[in-house]
Parts: sequence; structure tokens; C-alpha cells
Amino acid sequence: MIRYIASFSVIVLLGAVPFLPQDQSPAKSATFTIPPDIAAQTNPIHPTTEGLAKAKKMYGYDCAMCHGANGDGKGDMASSLKTPMKDWHDPASLKGMTDGDLFYIIQKGKGEMPPEGDRQNAEGIWNMVTLVQSFSKK
Ligand code: HEC
Repeated sequence: MIRYIASFSVIVLLGAVPFLPQDQSPAKSATFTIPPDIAAQTNPIHPTTEGLAKAKKMYGYDCAMCHGANGDGKGDMASSLKTPMKDWHDPASLKGMTDGDLFYIIQKGKGEMPPEGDRQNAEGIWNMVTLVQSFSKK
């Protein structure tokens, strides 16, 4: 029931304010924990050309302003954030984070990062996980 109310209010909040102010973010860093069943997940989506093209497009709209068009953490908004942004080209930057960890952070947000929420379905978010990981594999 509590879970239901919580997810319902997230949906209501997302509907009302597309860009959540920090103090309403559902996943504050102080209380941030990734549910173990999600953290244990490996990406179930086999990346396709279309899937990755869509992820890149969405990344340009929703992520690049903070994480940088190439994932270097130097987006236009990065300097106004309190949290230092990681450069994903450095393989150490995502070390120890599982596919499920990245999925959860992208879907729910974390600290100063707004949630992608229901702007994309699970498949779209998994494709974003692949995209984020691909920045360090070049
Ligand atoms: C308003 C700026 C902002 C936007 C927009 C944003 N992020 Fe983030 N992102 C952050 C911050 C800040 C963190 C670090 C959060 C923390 O650890 O407190 C983060 C963390 C992450 C992480 C965990 C790895 C890391 O670098 O710490 C991933 C993966 C991620 N973001 C992906 C995305 C994706 C994909 C999008 C677009 C759907 C996105 N972010 C949009 C600011 C942003």
C-alpha cells in the first residue's frame, strides 16, 4: 500500500512538474538505497541500432545538459550543480556500479539528478544504460 501511494505520488509529481526541484526529488542522496533485487539485475535488453539511436536522441534532450554530449560530465548545467560530475570516459567512473544500479538511478533520479521516470519505458532506460556504459568503451 505504501509502495502504491509512493509510486502514485511520484507519477502525480512528474505530471505536475516535469523538472522536479531538488527538495521534492523522490530519491534524496541521504536516504538513497538501490533495492537489492534491482541492483542485482543485468541488462536484459539486447541493444539494437534503433534502440541505441533512440537512446542517443533522448540523451541529447534529457541528459546532455548535465552529463555532456559525450558523457564527459561537462554539460552546460554541470557547473551550477553542487555534485561533481563524473567523466564517463574514465572506466573507473562507473566501477562497482551494476547495470541495475544505473537503471535505477536513471529511472528514479538521485540527489541533484531528476528522474527520467515514465518519460521512457523500461526498454528505453536499459538502452540508456548501454549508452552510458559505451562512453567508456571507446
Ligand atoms: C540536472 C543535471 C542532471 C541531469 C539532467 C541528468 N543527470 Fe545523471 N546525474 C547527475 C548527478 C548530479 C549525478 C550524481 C548523483 C549523486 O551521486 O548524487 C548523476 C548520476 C548519474 C548516473 C550514475 C553514475 C554517475 O555518474 O554518478 C547515471 C548513470 C546518470 N546520472 C545518467 C543520467 C541519464 C541517462 C540522464 C538523462 C536521462 C541523466 N543522468 C540526467 C545530474 C544529472
